[in-house]
Amino acid sequence: MAKASVALLMILSLLLLLSECSLAFDTLGMDVPKRVVNITNYLGPNIVLTLHCKSNDDDLGKHDLSFENSFHWEFKSNALFPNTVFYCYMWWQDVYGSFDVYKAQRDDERCGDKCWWRIKQTGAFSFDESKDRWDLMYIWQK
Ligand SMILES: *[C@@H]1O[C@H](CO)[C@@H](O)[C@H](O)[C@H]1NC(C)=O
Repeated sequence: MAKASVALLMILSLLLLLSECSLAFDTLGMDVPKRVVNITNYLGPNIVLTLHCKSNDDDLGKHDLSFENSFHWEFKSNALFPNTVFYCYMWWQDVYGSFDVYKAQRDDERCGDKCWWRIKQTGAFSFDESKDRWDLMYIWQK
């Protein structure tokens, strides 16, 4: 066998081993930080926000939030393979949007263990804990 393919095979087995370790960590609840995403409707009085959030593994269902109400969920983010992504579809009146509300590689540093969102008419804002400020992350489609 060529040297290159032996090296490739070794890398592949190492990756497989690592991913099994991380699976074991998950099962034992070790080394897996817990995160929370919390989304609040700040659209204005009497404006209902409908949202439907998912990851590749989970469908969190469709929820209606009245003004100043929140929807949150907790999950574990794999520290070894930071590949968790949650995304939401959102509607209010005739406005629609969809975007990532948690992306391990973007947000583990940014929002720490609390990824809080404020949904406003001007856009969707998420709190950057490391910089202590609300960032505009998404503008509604027209
Ligand atoms: C979600 O955010 C709202 C508004 O800031 C807050 O009142 C509520 O306590 C938060 N809930 C959780 C579980 O973080």
